[in-house]
Amino acid sequence: MARKIVVTSGKGGVGKTTVTANLGVQLARRGARVIVCDLDFGLNNIDVVLGMENLATYDIVDAIEGRCRPRQALVRHPRYPALSVLSSGHDPDRYISPQAVRLILDSLAPQFDYILIDSPAGIEEGFHRAVAAAEEAILVTTPHISAMRDADKVSGMLKNYRLKGVGLAVNLVRGDMMKRGEILSPREISDMLRLPLLAVIPEEDRIFLDNVAEGSRAFRFFASYYLSGKSRIFDAEKKYGGLIGSILGGLKRRL
Ligand SMILES: Nc1ncnc2c1ncn2[C@@H]1O[C@H](COP(=O)(O)OP(=O)(O)OP(=O)(O)O)[C@@H](O)[C@H]1O
Ligand SMILES: [Mg+2]
Repeated sequence: MARKIVVTSGKGGVGKTTVTANLGVQLARRGARVIVCDLDFGLNNIDVVLGMENLATYDIVDAIEGRCRPRQALVRHPRYPALSVLSSGHDPDRYISPQAVRLILDSLAPQFDYILIDSPAGIEEGFHRAVAAAEEAILVTTPHISAMRDADKVSGMLKNYRLKGVGLAVNLVRGDMMKRGEILSPREISDMLRLPLLAVIPEEDRIFLDNVAEGSRAFRFFASYYLSGKSRIFDAEKKYGGLIGSILGGLKRRL
């Protein structure tokens, strides 16, 4: 039976979709059967991030309204067949109830190991719909004050739901800035928000899905946490240690 995990944040643009897509890819690469479910109605961009634009014939609204069976609304990733995408509808104004979404996900859950739910920015109806469909949550923040403040607010709101676990993923971490004490470390952020730290994801220039970028290691660690229960956190500061590190740090500052 799939674990249903919502990826949420409060503040927009902190990396929910990036985290959902990359965690989905790394879980699927390790053989887990994964659905990445886009509940950002209207924007619907996880298929784009996964390089699967225009592959879907149906979306979750079609499944809810009976135009297709839930399984027919899934699209398999061309490169990672264990990964399927469930797109949201393209009409942000159409009312879709949390119960309807939950029903669809529950009907798919027996054939999968993980259902990752990408939620929209904000704390309105779309947030409620995404969180209500899940049993666990990943709260994404960045080391920026505004993101942390919103994460704190959302963390309080998540207490109103019956979630089995809520953990923190700190995205857009710059090891060089951490080293210089210019930003809080992910550990400090996790202490401050009183949430267990599940993942640290470095700020990177290239997208992660290619598995070459350093950030994909952060997502491999993150996937291991779910697959084995052992948490291994990416060390964003490591490459800025020693002589090479000081040079890298100096270069980055000049850029
Ligand atoms: N670790 C990272 N390093 C570099 N760029 C990143 C990283 N994480 C996310 N980004 C970039 O930041 C932008 C916002 O990320 P993303 O779309 O995942 O955020 P989001 O929280 O889903 O946004 P929204 O609230 O609008 O749905 C994207 O352009 C994405 O490529
Ligand atoms: Mg998004």
